[in-house]
Amino acid sequence: MSNRTVITFGTFDVLHVGHVRVLQRAAELGDRLVVGVSADALNITKKNRAPVFTQDERLEIVGALRVVDAVFVEESLEQKRDYILEHGADVLVMGDDWKGKFDFVSDICEVVYLPRTPSVSTTGLIEHIANNG
Ligand code: CTP
Repeated sequence: MSNRTVITFGTFDVLHVGHVRVLQRAAELGDRLVVGVSADALNITKKNRAPVFTQDERLEIVGALRVVDAVFVEESLEQKRDYILEHGADVLVMGDDWKGKFDFVSDICEVVYLPRTPSVSTTGLIEHIANNG
């Protein structure tokens, strides 16, 4: 019996169609989808700003999607390997903006990079709302 667990990571702030599509496509690669939602503190270091929605809100939103089976907080980018092992993931899915960057875990799981949905991003949405409000 195959029971493939897929894992993916992201901020998923101000949820948009690019997020929904990447999660749907990730879910199709296995039987169970686990999502690491990046911590507020991690975002502040990574993107130099706090997310619009708190990590608890982002966990609740992503966890409510039909294709998502479980969510957890990603505290650090360096712990990908630990998270993959902890959640028994067979496949790591990342957006192709990360192409090649996670090949170092290919000894413990399959690594798949999915193309991003063009023309939409959280950063773009925040700017759009700020300039048109
Ligand atoms: N993603 C996607 N298509 C987009 C935007 C995001 O497939 N247009 C994917 C990313 O590749 C990643 C996941 O969604 O796998 C979460 O990305 P995240 O960084 O949270 O979203 P962005 O919109 O890229 O956020 P930001 O603008 O803050 O970088």
